[in-house]
Amino acid sequence: MSQRNRPDSPNVRRVKTRTLLVLGANGDLAHRLLLPGLRSLIDAEPGLDVRLIGAGRKDVPDEDWKQGLAEALGVKDEHAPDGASARPLGVVESSRYVQADVADARDLQRLLEACPTAPAVYFALPPAVTIAACEALRGIELPPGTVLALEKPFGTSVVTARQLNELLAALIPEEQVYRVDHFLGKSTVLNLLGLRFANRIFEPVWNSTSVDHVEIIYDEKLGLEQRAGYYDHAGALTDMIQSHLLLVLALVCIEPPSGLDADDLRGEMAQVLRATRPYGGDPAAASRRARYTAGTIEGRAFPSYADEEGVDPARGTETLAELTVGVENWRWSGVPFTLRSGKALGDARKEIIITFKPVPHLPTGFLGCASPPRLRIILGPDCLHLDLNINGAGDPFTLEPVTLSAQFAKGDMTPYGEVLGGILDGDQLLSIRGDVAEQCWRIIEPVQQAWRAGAVPLEEYPAGTPGPAGWGAH
Ligand code: BG6
Repeated sequence: MSQRNRPDSPNVRRVKTRTLLVLGANGDLAHRLLLPGLRSLIDAEPGLDVRLIGAGRKDVPDEDWKQGLAEALGVKDEHAPDGASARPLGVVESSRYVQADVADARDLQRLLEACPTAPAVYFALPPAVTIAACEALRGIELPPGTVLALEKPFGTSVVTARQLNELLAALIPEEQVYRVDHFLGKSTVLNLLGLRFANRIFEPVWNSTSVDHVEIIYDEKLGLEQRAGYYDHAGALTDMIQSHLLLVLALVCIEPPSGLDADDLRGEMAQVLRATRPYGGDPAAASRRARYTAGTIEGRAFPSYADEEGVDPARGTETLAELTVGVENWRWSGVPFTLRSGKALGDARKEIIITFKPVPHLPTGFLGCASPPRLRIILGPDCLHLDLNINGAGDPFTLEPVTLSAQFAKGDMTPYGEVLGGILDGDQLLSIRGDVAEQCWRIIEPVQQAWRAGAVPLEEYPAGTPGPAGWGAH
């Protein structure tokens, strides 16, 4: 499912824009994710007419900018499907680069003047620079219809997220603010909505009466990848659980929305997160943390996290975090939801697992064991598995496990393509509402406090293993 083909809802006020101003246009985020996302958007919507303005500190001659842009957009990709490689040329040709200090109001003014129409300003910048740029925008009159798109992490705490929200509110209306979480653009995550709300069989069992526990796992084989400057201050709890997995939790738990517009969906997500807190009320007991030591993954040697360049081992940053939360509302009270994500793990396990309760009574006479049914939604390659018990072959009274599997249709676009499409189209469905960003910090803050107080040991695991010994599945 893609948001691009959704009909306009009468409840949505859309501010559409066709100029994309990327601040930090020479950076890793822009080149690795944003521009390839733009390419996938253009491929999915060949008629899209976007004017791209790049800005950065470096002095980049126009020719070099266009060449770098063509590469990032895959214009020179010989393996691209027929005709596809030619499509983004228009974007490259009409694009321009402006050297600018994005924290300087006069430079920002120049940048806005370089935009043919009110732009979507995409802050592809580290959080502190984004805040400095927003501060600098205070002194400028933004063209009506300007849209601001901010990358995560949004602030560093409830207080700083609120301050940033207040700053943004002083600049433009909330309808024009996009807080980006590319997980909301992942096709599997969006497919959750179709699975839940277009199939009557799931909703009656989607509650604490029938669900025993839920796991949302995002284990990566990637390590630090030269990102110490950011990651060593964030850690897995902030980088993944706060920024992404809590939003996935919200989609797993929401009440059926009346429609798929941003107000309906984001309102329901906010309700879930407002009810979410560390399971059992004890943030130390509900969480675990660890960091990797030296090891090997697929022949690639990883140093200990503590020895990675730019890391301050004394900071005690975790590369693997696990947090069990409860959603204290009528539907979910009592069900543990375990969110886990880590780096340099042996297996890239990315899935949502809903484990149902056993039947209240298994008729006597059955042999074998009836495992609790599970619904597993795998994030990339996108598929779902439903594990059930059936009568076995041979002796029909001996139970056997069976798995029904289906592939989800792959989205046309990359997650960043989905996100950019929403921004250009004025559709906030896949962007995080201001109060939701604050809620995500509110949920993890007691855990951060418990960790700072030393109430939860920082365990270790060799890179390439499933995690610390004893961290079995729940
Ligand atoms: C990013 C995190 O937001 O998401 C990274 O900063 C992480 O640390 C990444 O690796 C995971 O998302 P994806 O889509 O690249 O698997």
